[in-house]
Amino acid sequence: SAAEKAGYDWFMRKEIYEQPKAVLDTLLGRYNEARELTLDEVRIADSELKRINKIIIVACGTAFYSGLVAKYAIEHWCRIPCEVEIASEFRYRDPIITSETLLVTISQSGETADTLMAVRHAREQGAKVIAICNTNGATIPRESDAVIYTHAGPEIGVASTKGFTTQIAAAYLLGLYLAQVRGTKFGDEIAAVMTELESMPEKIQRVLDNTDQFHALATRLSDKRSVLFLGRHVGYPIALEGALKLKEIAYLHAEGFPAGELKHGPIALVEPGIPIFVVVPPHGRDQLHDKVISNIQEVRARGAQTIVLVEEGDTEVEPYADEVIWLPKASTLLQPLLAIVPLQIFACEVATRLGHDVDQPRNLAKSVTVE
Ligand code: G6P
Repeated sequence: SAAEKAGYDWFMRKEIYEQPKAVLDTLLGRYNEARELTLDEVRIADSELKRINKIIIVACGTAFYSGLVAKYAIEHWCRIPCEVEIASEFRYRDPIITSETLLVTISQSGETADTLMAVRHAREQGAKVIAICNTNGATIPRESDAVIYTHAGPEIGVASTKGFTTQIAAAYLLGLYLAQVRGTKFGDEIAAVMTELESMPEKIQRVLDNTDQFHALATRLSDKRSVLFLGRHVGYPIALEGALKLKEIAYLHAEGFPAGELKHGPIALVEPGIPIFVVVPPHGRDQLHDKVISNIQEVRARGAQTIVLVEEGDTEVEPYADEVIWLPKASTLLQPLLAIVPLQIFACEVATRLGHDVDQPRNLAKSVTVE
């Protein structure tokens, strides 16, 4: 009903706007004054967590993309090899699982059959399983060794939004916790990331406070047949998720690519007028920033309309951007929590303009309980 939507036209839009609180609630009470992460729900002994020699993250849809983001952080902080796999592919390839494998499932509903089957398969092989889930008492957390709940509140819109950002926040808590237990990161380093994580809700709010531009963009681009998204590092899964939102609710052909892969194929798709969203990583030691700027120049030279998401103050990109979306400053690993928000709003706006039912897109279900 209209009352449940609290004045918003769609649940999806309401849920997009709930993200500052949802991320805050997910972080709440997990980092104490002694500067220790206490994930009480992770009832797996430290001795077991120290033995883990491989992590496999398994999920579907949007949750799979949050898993891709998580991999970058977990490997960086914990130095444990981490694979991410689509749940429906996982058990059928006879994956290598031992008692030293940690399976991390990510599922908003906790009821997705493909993901549940992966949990059962991994436990049969002796793996420990931690579920990241938004639904209290759902089947996947019940069948796992431990659960980290995202505290996003109920998500009604079929296209996941606050589910996604809270999954990233929860996965980062898990990564830092493993680093703390295994001693690959020390108090100060963990404190620095936690301080930044705790500043994210306010920065997401700042993105949400300035959405006129995304609305105008949707008006300008809603007659396009195809939209591309490029990113690198954690910006790559954001490109995939931005494209998925457009497919799911606007029924537009949309593809996300790693920006560095452009020259190996996707650049052939670039024709005059095609809109290309590009997530630019912050300046770092690794020169990824400059490489992405060159990619923007390459597609611009071929006539693409470039819409560039970049941190405030980074004006280098302006000459090659048809439109700049400024993001509050954040470190590379935390930028996804900001960069996805304009893409969510953009998809919601395009779908609304095209007259689609944003909350109930055709052919899709909120939770898919059959394999
Ligand atoms: C369905 C939904 C998607 C969702 C996916 C995984 O396909 O339509 O929006 O990302 O399931 O759902 P889960 O509840 O496991 O996160």
